[in-house]
Amino acid sequence: MPVPNTLSRSETWRLLLLVGAGLGILVNTFQGDGAPVIASIALSFIAFAVAFSMIRWLGPVFIKAGLKGKDMAKPRKPEIPETMGAVCAVVYLLSLIIFIPFAFYKDIVAATSGGGNRDVVIEDQHIETGRFLHRFPHGRLASYLSGLLSLQCIIILGIGDDLLDIRWRHKVLIPAFAAIPMLVVYFVDFGVTHVVVPVPLQRYLGDFIDLGWLYYMYMAAVAIFCPNAINMLAGINGIEVAQSLVIAVLLLLNDAMYLAPITPYPHPATDSHLFSIYFLLPFIGVSTALLCHNWYPSKVFVGDTYCYFAGMVFAVVGILGHFSKTLLLLFVPQIFNFLYSTPQLFHIIPCPRHRLPKFNASTGLLDASVTEWMVPPSPLIAFALDTLHTLRLVRVQKDEKGQIVESTNLTILNLWLVWMGPMREDRLAWHMVAVQTACGFFGLFVRHRLALLVFNQDNRTFQSVV
Ligand code: UD1
Ligand code: MG
Repeated sequence: MPVPNTLSRSETWRLLLLVGAGLGILVNTFQGDGAPVIASIALSFIAFAVAFSMIRWLGPVFIKAGLKGKDMAKPRKPEIPETMGAVCAVVYLLSLIIFIPFAFYKDIVAATSGGGNRDVVIEDQHIETGRFLHRFPHGRLASYLSGLLSLQCIIILGIGDDLLDIRWRHKVLIPAFAAIPMLVVYFVDFGVTHVVVPVPLQRYLGDFIDLGWLYYMYMAAVAIFCPNAINMLAGINGIEVAQSLVIAVLLLLNDAMYLAPITPYPHPATDSHLFSIYFLLPFIGVSTALLCHNWYPSKVFVGDTYCYFAGMVFAVVGILGHFSKTLLLLFVPQIFNFLYSTPQLFHIIPCPRHRLPKFNASTGLLDASVTEWMVPPSPLIAFALDTLHTLRLVRVQKDEKGQIVESTNLTILNLWLVWMGPMREDRLAWHMVAVQTACGFFGLFVRHRLALLVFNQDNRTFQSVV
C-alpha cells in the first residue's frame, strides 16, 4: 500500500489558517511587557502545523534512505517510515530557539523602574551600553540554553541509534552524556542538594538533609531513566507518543497550579514552572502532529529518537524546574514496566530482540508474546515463574513432562493482555492511555494532598519574600 505523502486541499487550508493565526498572535505579543505564555501557545500551533506537514512530506524520503520498519501487528506487515520523531525533534528545537526573544522580551526591552511602573522604559540601544545588563536574568537564560543543549545532544544520539541500531546495554547510558550540560548549570546556578525530611523522621534527621553529590547522581539517574522508560513502553501503534502526551499534559496542569490566579503571584516556584511550560507547549504541539500519523493504523513509526527526545524533555523540565520527584509520580506505569522487565533486561530470563505483543492473523487480535525456553529454567527460576503464574503476573506453558517451555514476556503490555485477554491493537493503546491518565492523576493527588500527611506544607502555599 503506497503511503500517501501529500496534504489534502482541506488539510492545507486548515494548516495555513493555523499558521496565519499563530503568526498574528506572535506579532501581537511584542506589545506591552510581552506575553510569553501566549507567544509559546502560538508558536506551538505553528510547530504543530510544520511538523504535521513535514511528517507527511518526508515519509518517502525516509524510506528511500532506509529508515523504515515493519509493522509487526498487521496481517501483511507493511513497511512504513521509521525515525519520524527526528522530524518532530528538529521542529521542536527550532521553536525553542525562536522562542528565546519572546521569553526574555520584558527583560531585554521593557525593563521598568519596578512596582509595575512603566515610566522608565529601557530601549535596547541603552541596554547595549551595558547600563541595565545586571537586571538581565542570565541564570534563567543559562537554564534555558542548557536544557536546549541537553535536548540537542539526546536527539543526535537518538538519531545515531536509529541509524545504527545500537545494542541495548550500550544505549542505556546514552542520556547520561546529554544530561551533563543541565547538571553543570544546576550546580552553578542552584546548587541545591538538600531535601526536606518527612515530619515523622525530622526528630532523627533534622528538617533538611543534604544529599551532596548523591543528589547529582539521582538527577543523572532521572535523566537516564526517563528516555529509556518511554522507549521500553513501546511496540504498539501510537503508544510511545500517547503516553508522552498524557505525561506532558499532566505536567502542564501541575505547572498551571503554580500560576496566578490559582497561586498568587509572586511565588518562588513561578519562574521554574513557567520554564517548564515553555518547554512543554511546543512538545505537545509536535507530538500531537506525530500522533495523528502514528496512531493505529500507523502511517509512520516514531523511532528511538522520539522516545529519547520525549523522555529528555521531561527530565529537563523536572530537573531544571525543581520537581523531579513529582515527575517520577507521573512515571508510575513506566517504573512498573521497568521493574517488571528487570529479569529479562538482566538476562535472568531470556530476552528476545522484540517483546511486543503477538499478532494473531486469524483473529486480528493481539495476545501476550512469549519467550521460549530452549533449555528448561533452573529449579529456582521455575519456582519463581510458577509463583508468578499463580499470582497471574505471568503466563507459562508447560510440556507433558511438566517442564516450562515458554513464558510471557515481561512488559506491562503483555501483562495487560494476560489479565484482559486478547484485544485489538488500538483498544490496547486506549487502555494504556487510560492507565497512564489514572496513575498520573493519582500521582498529582499524592503530590499535593497525601504528601501533607508527611510534610508540613505543600510548596504551593509558600509565600515569597518580596
Ligand atoms: C524496545 C523494546 C523491545 C520492543 C521494541 C518495540 C526493551 C528492552 N526493548 O526495543 O522489546 O519490541 O522497543 O518498539 O524493552 N514496531 C511495531 N509496531 C509499533 C512500534 C514498533 O511493529 O507500533 C516494531 C517495528 O518493527 C519497528 C520496531 O518495532 O521497526 C522498532 O523497534 P526499536 O525501537 O528499534 O526497538 P528497541 O527500542 O530497541
Ligand atoms: Mg524503540
